[in-house]
Amino acid sequence: MTQAPATCRHDYAPPPWRCLAIELEFDLDAAATEVTARLQLEPDPGQPLQPLRLDGEALELLELRVDGDPVAADGMRIDPAGLTLPGIDRACTVQTRVRIGPERNTRLEGLYASEGLLLTQCEAHGFRRITYALDRPDVLSRYEVLLRADVARYPVLLGNGNCEDAGRLPDGRHYARWVDPEPKPCYLFALVAGALDSVRARHTTRSGNDVAVAVWAAPEDVTRCRHALQCVLRAMRWDEQRFGREYDMAEFNVVAARDFNMGAMENTGLNIFNARYILADPDTATDADFSDVESVIGHEYFHHWSGNRVTVRDWFQLALKEGLTVFRDQEFTSDMNSRAVKRIEDVRMLRARQFVEDSGPLAHPVRPNSYREIDNFYTATVYEKGAEIVRMLHTLLGETAFRQGLDLYFARHRGSAVTIEAFVAAMTEAGQRDLSGFLRWYSQAGTPVVEIRDSYDATTRRYEVQITQHTPPTPGQSEKQPLPIPLAYALYDARGRRIERALAGDAPVHEGLIELSGARHTLCLEDVDAAPLPAFGQALSAPVRVRYDYGPDALGRLASIERDPLLRWDAIQRLATDAILARGEAGASRLALLDATAVLLEDAELDPAFVAQCLQLPAFDTLVDEVVASGGTVDVDRVWAAREELLDELAERHVERLERRYQDMAAVDPDAMNAPAIAARRLKNTALDLLTRMDPAAALAQTQFAAAATMTDRLAALRALVHADASAAPQALSAFASRHGADALVTDKWLAIVASAPLADAIGRVQALMTGRHWLPRNPNRVRAILGSFARGNPVAFHRADGAGYALLLGAVAALDAANPQLAARQLGALENWQHLDAARAQHIRAGLQSLRSAEPSSLTTELLDRLLAD
Ligand code: TRP
Ligand code: ZN
Repeated sequence: MTQAPATCRHDYAPPPWRCLAIELEFDLDAAATEVTARLQLEPDPGQPLQPLRLDGEALELLELRVDGDPVAADGMRIDPAGLTLPGIDRACTVQTRVRIGPERNTRLEGLYASEGLLLTQCEAHGFRRITYALDRPDVLSRYEVLLRADVARYPVLLGNGNCEDAGRLPDGRHYARWVDPEPKPCYLFALVAGALDSVRARHTTRSGNDVAVAVWAAPEDVTRCRHALQCVLRAMRWDEQRFGREYDMAEFNVVAARDFNMGAMENTGLNIFNARYILADPDTATDADFSDVESVIGHEYFHHWSGNRVTVRDWFQLALKEGLTVFRDQEFTSDMNSRAVKRIEDVRMLRARQFVEDSGPLAHPVRPNSYREIDNFYTATVYEKGAEIVRMLHTLLGETAFRQGLDLYFARHRGSAVTIEAFVAAMTEAGQRDLSGFLRWYSQAGTPVVEIRDSYDATTRRYEVQITQHTPPTPGQSEKQPLPIPLAYALYDARGRRIERALAGDAPVHEGLIELSGARHTLCLEDVDAAPLPAFGQALSAPVRVRYDYGPDALGRLASIERDPLLRWDAIQRLATDAILARGEAGASRLALLDATAVLLEDAELDPAFVAQCLQLPAFDTLVDEVVASGGTVDVDRVWAAREELLDELAERHVERLERRYQDMAAVDPDAMNAPAIAARRLKNTALDLLTRMDPAAALAQTQFAAAATMTDRLAALRALVHADASAAPQALSAFASRHGADALVTDKWLAIVASAPLADAIGRVQALMTGRHWLPRNPNRVRAILGSFARGNPVAFHRADGAGYALLLGAVAALDAANPQLAARQLGALENWQHLDAARAQHIRAGLQSLRSAEPSSLTTELLDRLLAD
């Protein structure tokens, strides 16, 4: 496979041709679909004239006309990436008719078939696999789409915007005409055809627009769409209330698809979802699934403004829509549920995924400078770090000015394709402050390290804080500059009371926030009775690593500061990290951790979901990343063993407390779906995990499995049984499989449990799954459930010293790559920190990566391999 050429951010030039309108006609059929496109094109008078070039891949051209006249063979040039019409220098209508084969489309981009449905995925470059077009996001066109298909096979025909007409045709066919009222880039084009059923509701926006909302799924799944529908209505209401954003069309359709490369897609008025983020009922979905549905529905709906009505000028601006929209979906979830628990989850994920990505060979700026395959840049850095940047702006400006900035951004740029500068400029105006330094957050890769030292002088009664920042080098960026960092802080006195007086010095301080900008700052507080207890960077006020030598005593005290759950959680995470990685006084850290968790378990006033978070130790990946960030070589076995030991110790020390809390929580409405019941299940199942360590027969897990009233409880018990290798595990697995065997999404769940079980024969079990009837290499959810859960969720087995885990992953990537490069390439992320492993493991991986590289894989996989192997 040839490598794609690099696209560079600084080479951007406006489109030389515009496409004002597109008329599309589809004769839909799984084996062969014909697409007729009429593009109304004109050269941009402000740009130097260039030959008309249309993008197109894997299209069979049947007909080409310009202004109605057929084009002779010598009037065009066709190559694998598109079509050039050299003779054309004026406004014209180009009509093409092409044939495509949805059924043979295994890449799941463009038009493809999934369980009897025909559907599209166009972001980032799928549209060119449907028809010849100007496939770039800064070309906005008005779309009119006529869909024709067999009425029996494809009774429902959906498109973007509003359905203006529909009816019967001869020969058992029918049609629907869809018009999207506002111009859009082609990556937001979508259609769906198939036997779908829906649940429906109406929403009236606050200025009176009446919207027909429908969530569509296969008829047998439609009873599981109610929750998704409620989430759409909630998201619509929330965006009106919190950000003043109203939906502006007559229809909003959401469709569930079983085969889908990512989470979901925000096509205007026709969002298409991976079924796992739509289908949910208490018997088949866990509490976590319900909440994932809420956040992904929110995310895609919020794109209607942040992404669709205001879109991206080029793909380097991806974080403009994704960072902002993740921030918005995080806020939605926070406003609907517990803000503290949501922030803890997000910080945990940021540290386990984004920090790791940012410290390895795949590190890249939130706005990269070049790419070969943009599909490789839908990353934790673009999404999650992108959202953290928006969050910092929100922190600095405050809700009111941030909201004004967003209003200004949407009002000013509605209907256009813009850059990150446009967003920052709107925030600058609304916040009336210079944010130019902030753009560096978009251009500089790597996680900054903020180092803090303090001292107290009893004779002068002066407390002084010295803060430095530096960012480690990343690929292609050896020199780093200081960044503007809003660092939250608080000082406590000996009795744990907050000291209200603010630090002062060479950085602005207001309301518990130090605004760092330089490489070094000094601040102090005069007239203090004793050395205060400081907290720095609470709630991760910036995506940085805060280094401050607290010591176990101080962390133990922070863990008991009652009004700040995030501070408590983070103090506990630090204690656990020090204990596991044997840093400083590791023994004392362990004891302080045990004390702090005892207090949390005894406190019946606390949100049980929060207590559950505090009992979960830092993710294995985060611990490894801590070692990497402090310059060490990772001993995966030791990190794993130390983490396990600490979990054992927590279980042993707290066994009675855990049993008590388990029983208390089990008494809360076991099958209710409200917040208190969900929180109770969280703590109960966290306790179950720990208690099973003390329970060789796994009796409690067995009892829970047999009596479970929800999927949450059933699955948690199954996981406890399988991961403990309990003698009851095989029977529980087969009971579970036979109860839910018909449902692919539930099957994914038990497969993921097996693939992530840290057992001696784990690799054999995964191999068995990958050669058995459950291995469906064309179904991304299934591949992720087995292969992804193994590579990302089973570190001991994946990192087996003989390299068998790596071989399993790389063999699977090689096998998947030809059919679905997006799916295959993504799996390589599990190796992103390979260079920091011990020499023997690193050698296994290097050899494996090189051998895959020499087999000439897809251009996506090649790009990632080259970055992974670059030194
Ligand atoms: N824009 C989508 C989102 O974040 C994600 C996305 C990008 C995607 N590329 C994709 C989804 C390819 C499916 C397939 O919401
Ligand atoms: Zn998105």
